[in-house]
Formats: sequence, C-alpha cells, structure tokens
Amino acid sequence: MTLGSNRVSMIKYAIRDLVNYAKKLENEGRKIIYLNIGDPALFFETPLHIREALAKAAMEGKSYYAPSEGLPELREAICRKEQEINGVSGLTPDDVVVTAGVSEGIQLVLLSVADVGDEILIPDPSYPPYVSYSFLSGIKPRTYRCLEGDGWRPDVDDIRSKMGEKVKAIVLINPNNPSGAVYSEKKVKEIIDVAGEYGIPVISDEIYDQIIYDGCFRSTASLSDDVPVIGLNGLSKTHLITGWRLGYVYFYDPEGVLGGVKEGVKKMARMRLSVNTPAQVAGVVALNGPKEHVRELVSSLKERRDYSFKRLSEFPNVYCNKPQGTFYIFPKINLEKWRSDEEFVVELLKNKGVLIVSGSGFGEEGRGHVRIVFLPPIELLEEAFDKIEEFF
Ligand SMILES: Cc1ncc(COP(=O)(O)O)c(C=O)c1O
Repeated sequence: MTLGSNRVSMIKYAIRDLVNYAKKLENEGRKIIYLNIGDPALFFETPLHIREALAKAAMEGKSYYAPSEGLPELREAICRKEQEINGVSGLTPDDVVVTAGVSEGIQLVLLSVADVGDEILIPDPSYPPYVSYSFLSGIKPRTYRCLEGDGWRPDVDDIRSKMGEKVKAIVLINPNNPSGAVYSEKKVKEIIDVAGEYGIPVISDEIYDQIIYDGCFRSTASLSDDVPVIGLNGLSKTHLITGWRLGYVYFYDPEGVLGGVKEGVKKMARMRLSVNTPAQVAGVVALNGPKEHVRELVSSLKERRDYSFKRLSEFPNVYCNKPQGTFYIFPKINLEKWRSDEEFVVELLKNKGVLIVSGSGFGEEGRGHVRIVFLPPIELLEEAFDKIEEFF
C-alpha cells in the first residue's frame, strides 16, 4: 500500500515530464538542447534597473509580509499598465489582486468562480494547469476546439454547443500557449458575446500580451462593454523575472456582478498571507520604468520565430502555422515512423539530445503535434533544427 491522495493522480505536466530523463542523459555526458520550457529568463538578462530594485528592497529590509492583496503602489501600477498598454479602462487598485505568478492566479480564480460539479470551458490545445487545477478543485474541465486550419483560433460553434447551466466561465488564452496564435478582435468579441448571453465571465489569460510579432492583440476586457472579464497576467515573461513569481488577477466588472468571485480570491489571498515583498517592490519599477528591454526582447524573438518557422517549413514531414506571438511553435508531424507524438519526442531526445514537448500534453487537439520553444539564440536553434532534420 502507498500513501497519498487520488486527487493528485490526474495531474499531468508534459512540459517538465521528461526533464529528469534528459538530466540523466546529461549526467552520462550527453549534450542536451532544452527546447521544452518557456522561460525567457534563461536566455535574456533581467534588466539591471529591475534587478537593482529587488536588491535595494532586500537591503532596505523590506522582508516583511506585504498586504495579502498586494502592495497598493503595485496594484496602482498594474491599473495604469492595463489602461495604457491594453486599453482596459476603469480598473482601480481594489479590482486587482497580486499573485505568485499567473499560476497561483489560475488556482484562486477557478476556486472562486465555480463549485464542485460545475464546469469551465477551456481551450484545446491549452496550457495544462487549467485542466489540472479544475480537476483538483472538483470542477469539470470541458474543452472547446481551436482549429489548426483557422490558425488555431477558437471554434465558436463548438463553444456554443458546450454551453449550459453548469458552465461558470469561458477561459481564453490569448496570445496562446502552445499555438502562438493571436486572436482577431472579431473572434474575441464573438466569445465575449457567448459569455454575455449566458451571464458568465470570460477568464482571459494574457501573459504574452506584449510578445507579439504580427497580428493585432486586443485585450478581452478592452473589447467588452458589459460582460465581466477576469484578467490574468504577470511580469514573468515580459520583464524576464520568471523565478520571482509575480502575477496578478484583475476584475473588469462594469455591471458589478463579480463581487463574490473577487471577495473569494481576496479571501484565499489572505489565507496564503502574501506574495514576495521585494519582488513586488521591483515589480513597481518594472511597470513604471523604462521599457527598452521589451522592444529588444520582441525584436530578438521575432528573428528566432522567423528562423524556426523557415526551418520547419522546409521539412517535408511537417505542417506548421506561423506563430504571431509568444515563443512557441506548434508543428504537426507526419508520424508514419512513430506510434505517437509522445514516442517521437522520447526518440528525438534519446537519439539526438533535443528535448521538446509532445502536443498531446496540451489536449486531444494537440495529438500529432509537438511544441518547440524558440527562445535560444539562432546558433543553438540551428544546431537543434539540424538534429531534428537528421532525426527525420
Ligand atoms: C498561458 C500561460 N499562463 C500562465 C503561465 C504561468 O506564468 P507565471 O510565471 O506567471 O506563473 C504560463 C507559463 O508558461 C503560460 O504559458
């Protein structure tokens, strides 16, 4: 007999599943190229002014718990950022809760928005924690299709067909992980309309809001008149501080219907006391300070996106949409020689030392695909794509 809850047995996180095996190969002397984890801070330096702000906060003894909802000056900076960059108007610091990354925000929001037995609509393919946290919370995750043939945009008819009394929110991930798609204004509005018809909020994960190459990103809340939107966002990716764990939830609530959900998130925030105080102080500097690093990041990543797309498009056994944002590319692989995308990924790692993620780890629609992170410099990407080419 082994101890432990059944509840955790369904948690899957394909992005990190093979890391131990890759480390074992590395310990045996093999060179491994990691293209599995979307961590830009591994490849780009955190800007000096943000690092200095963190060090200063620590040196000044800001080592105490911050208010559970987040430092007031950070919540103010978040409102300003959402207004200036994403066009979300009317937010006040009271509408914002600072979280330990979007990851914590997802947990708090799901627990506050739905009860055991309720349903949440989640995109397929999707960032895996939405499904896992739903299960853990006793919520039934129901997936809606995103269509590869339509640049991986959500199939609104499929969303409609799954609506019902038990559905308590529609999750949108835009720009999208794993597909790199950025949705059109029309598509976002169609989804807002469905949510409005059923009187439920849209939960909009916009963590890649500033990592856009083409297409026009429009924040969900900026397009909604009266439909409530729970925004999830953070500083991990844009400000290169993944390890500092800084994110936020905001409640865009023109009709004042989200009071219970907001209070639920705040109660849970109090229960876990506080988010890292020095990181929050530095977060204010990141949001209010110079933004040159964001332009540089996006311009370097655009080159890496173009290079990766070009290489993959040249492989005869691959079909690929060009990502418009994020740092992921999600090609479909001709699997004649392999039983599944999982086997492809394991064999690629064993034979060529390149670690990518199997598409089925992101949902049923991801089957037959793989997710490749294009964060590394072009020389390393070149080496990785040469190896993938040899493997084919
Ligand atoms: C869509 C999406 N949401 C949330 C997260 C988690 O971000 P954070 O570092 O803020 O927890 C990620 C990380 O890869 C992501 O891709």
